[in-house]
Amino acid sequence: MSITDSPKVLLINGPNLNMIGTREPHIYGSTTLIQLEEQLTEKAKQLEFALTCFQSNIEGEIITQIQQAKANNVDVIIINPGAYTHTSIGIRDAFLSVQIPFIEIHISNVYAREHFRHHSYLSDVASGILVGHGLFGYELALYRAQNIISSR
Ligand code: DQA
Repeated sequence: MSITDSPKVLLINGPNLNMIGTREPHIYGSTTLIQLEEQLTEKAKQLEFALTCFQSNIEGEIITQIQQAKANNVDVIIINPGAYTHTSIGIRDAFLSVQIPFIEIHISNVYAREHFRHHSYLSDVASGILVGHGLFGYELALYRAQNIISSR
């Protein structure tokens, strides 16, 4: 299979996730986003799909990226929406409009943190959620993406 007809997975990281590596390392670890994206891109190759990585601190850019995923025939989206998890009806509506299966991931266990982190506008419409597995959760999400693609 050539890379052009490989299944496509889009990874979206939301606000402040460009700061992992230096941001609250006791919660988010010491690996940078660039390092994480490199590791995941390598893993995706082994799993035989093409991974595109996108990060933005801007809600509208994330919404546009989700809308464009439809036109780009993306098979699965993995998203860590950061703080927008707890606030964004716009990101929820974008997922509802494109109907692309998505996996919601959080590095930290949001349920062991402040109460305002316990609610997600996305979880009930996600294919699945991964919470509190640290950066390994992203790798788990890749396996799940492969599983979603292969069971279609
Ligand atoms: C987070 C949890 C959110 O509550 C927080 O706003 C983040 C990161 C996580 O990965 O644990 O920015 O999504």
